[in-house]
Amino acid sequence: MPVGILTAGGDCPGLNAAIRGVVTRVIAEGEDVVGVEEGWRGLMEGRFSGLGRDEVRGIIGRGGTILGTSRMDPYEHGSGLASVSGTLAEADIETLVVIGGDGSLRTAGKLAAEGVPIVGIPKTIDNDIGLTDVSLGFHTAVQIVVDAIDRLTTTAEAHNRIMVVEVMGRTTGWIAAVAGMAGGAEAILVPEMDGDLEALSDRLVARHQAGHHYSIVVVAEGAAGPGGEVKTAGVDAFGFTRIGGVGEEIAAELEERTGFEARVMSLGYLQRGGAPTAFDRVLGTRFGIKAGELAMEGRRDVMVAAQGREIVPVGLLDACSEVRHLDTRRFEEASWFFA
Ligand code: F6P
Repeated sequence: MPVGILTAGGDCPGLNAAIRGVVTRVIAEGEDVVGVEEGWRGLMEGRFSGLGRDEVRGIIGRGGTILGTSRMDPYEHGSGLASVSGTLAEADIETLVVIGGDGSLRTAGKLAAEGVPIVGIPKTIDNDIGLTDVSLGFHTAVQIVVDAIDRLTTTAEAHNRIMVVEVMGRTTGWIAAVAGMAGGAEAILVPEMDGDLEALSDRLVARHQAGHHYSIVVVAEGAAGPGGEVKTAGVDAFGFTRIGGVGEEIAAELEERTGFEARVMSLGYLQRGGAPTAFDRVLGTRFGIKAGELAMEGRRDVMVAAQGREIVPVGLLDACSEVRHLDTRRFEEASWFFA
């Protein structure tokens, strides 16, 4: 009986490595793999294609997903289980491997609770899924932000400017904190911590007056702006709220308070594009192999998770029932190096 596989929600680097891992492991046992196009949308519409070794050759280092993805959801945009049960039966899929973020994995958990055997793989650059040390795509996003900070530092220094770097993360500050630490940021603003812009401005003025001619301020898209509000940018085609734009407000506030020029770089979708790092290629491969094995063992509502050196199964809904926020300790470690 075939194993189905889909990628759902926002893409991230490493998805193809995970698809390749699942397919290669499952076909090694003589079982078939059915790829579902464009996430839950393709499942609802019955769009499938067979995946063999040839279809996944040469894709480990390719960004995006060969299957395509979407933010369509059978519970939000259809009638739940009823909108996918017919197509699952038609494709003869026994277990579905869902490579998703917290939203897609919650949907997977609901379907699993209604009897659809599902194995989840945690992917999101936001790194906000529980019970796993890290989610697929996070490492690459952090590396992209660090590369950008390195470049932004030299142009900021040439102009004696404050450079505000806005990064993704939705309601969490993982990317901001880890990339900010690696990039040597002077300040990091995250949703999990109160950012005191007055105190920050004083620190930045003192820093520039002491002869340091640049400051890097990393801001998570979900951090509160000067008025204490999270900045949103309307809703997407599927009705989900888009977050973003707080960097502009923070830069304007810092420029006014410090008297130094401030500029903003919102890194946006660059953080999700292009080739995965070696770390994410290996993580995706290991997640895929384990997910394939669990699917063939008949496990029904589990997610693969990285814990220490091992890839282990954890309860699907246990992992994504709550958003995993940034550890306070991680933020404190980064903050020792603030201006
Ligand atoms: O969840 C990943 C993420 O990249 C968030 O950090 C961001 O807010 C969101 O997706 C944007 O996604 P899209 O515009 O593709 O819906």
